[in-house]
Amino acid sequence: MNKTRAAITAVAKYLPERVLSNTDLEKMVETNDEWIVSRTGIRERRLVAEGQATSDMAIAAINQLFNDTGVTADEIDIIIVATVTPDYMFPATAALIQKEIGANRAWGFDLSAACSGFLFALQTGASFIESRTAKKVLVVGADTMSAITDYTDRNTCILFGDAAGVVLLEPTEDENYGLIDQMLYVDGSGADALYQAAGGSRLPASAETVAKRQHFIYQDGRTVFKKAAEGMASASTAILNRNNISGDDIAIFVPHQANKRIIDVAAQRMGLSPDKVLLNIDKYGNTTAATIPVGLKEAVEDGRLKDGDYAVLAAFGAGYTWGSILLKWGPTRSK
Ligand code: UT7
Repeated sequence: MNKTRAAITAVAKYLPERVLSNTDLEKMVETNDEWIVSRTGIRERRLVAEGQATSDMAIAAINQLFNDTGVTADEIDIIIVATVTPDYMFPATAALIQKEIGANRAWGFDLSAACSGFLFALQTGASFIESRTAKKVLVVGADTMSAITDYTDRNTCILFGDAAGVVLLEPTEDENYGLIDQMLYVDGSGADALYQAAGGSRLPASAETVAKRQHFIYQDGRTVFKKAAEGMASASTAILNRNNISGDDIAIFVPHQANKRIIDVAAQRMGLSPDKVLLNIDKYGNTTAATIPVGLKEAVEDGRLKDGDYAVLAAFGAGYTWGSILLKWGPTRSK
């Protein structure tokens, strides 16, 4: 009998409606469209409406997935939510989602790995499927970055946006589908290059931390850039090499969208033509844990990712955390 693999059988996304363009940002901080586009590739990003939180976006994406597939909430065994912007420090966003969608049999939890969160959550979810602990796992990547972005800091406010994406994992014994390999890493020596200083147990919220704007993202952009370009490129090429496949064999590379220049380095090292690289950073900016599931959905929508195709996913983020996953897409569920 073949080994049980975890297959992605459905994917859905949610992008909030409000658009924040580079021109809008020019009116808020000392920046310009030319600088932002040439340094990052970003033209606009989406932001939540007043009062909308991470679970709201995740629930919208999950309901879309249920509508598309006919799968119902009571079939779900586990809900894993990758996020660094949960609705609350506790309870977990997974609990809020469970109640709202009515997943009566499910358990679940949040997972914090910043921009690599979706990859870490996907591998975690896959382990429950491969060990036959669960038959249907929802893996969510969702972040409301606007909640922790300082819109007076031009170094960071141009980068981030809000979004949610979700995939459904199910078991398969068919070798044409499912997660094949993963290379995931954490290196805490990067902790102070990209972090949110206050609001945790190290520096609890106080009038002083608020006055010092310590509840917002801090990033040493240049330091993170160098690590990210190297980390993403080496993880993406290493996973191809370890599985004896080349850039020609894969249908699409779906990288985390932090900076177009970082993605270009990885794609070049993998020997990929531009049509094999999923890029939507121009429309959404960096949506942290949501970039990869949103990218997967768009690759399917464009017809660039079909059942049985090889795809490589890769990310780099705060921690540092980084890595890559190789999979064969599908079998896609339909109603
Ligand atoms: O997703 C998680 C992981 N995160 C990443 O992968 C992000 C990695 N880092 C980056 O993508 C880039 O470092 C940034 C896009 C954040 C910055 O680009 P950079 O090319 O590294 O620029 P820099 O920070 O080295 O700044 C270059 C110059 C500076 O001026 P001086 O010191 O050369 O006079 C900045 O003050 O650009 C200035 N600058 C800006 N100018 C106009 C910084 N931000 C802006 C801005 N508009 N928004």
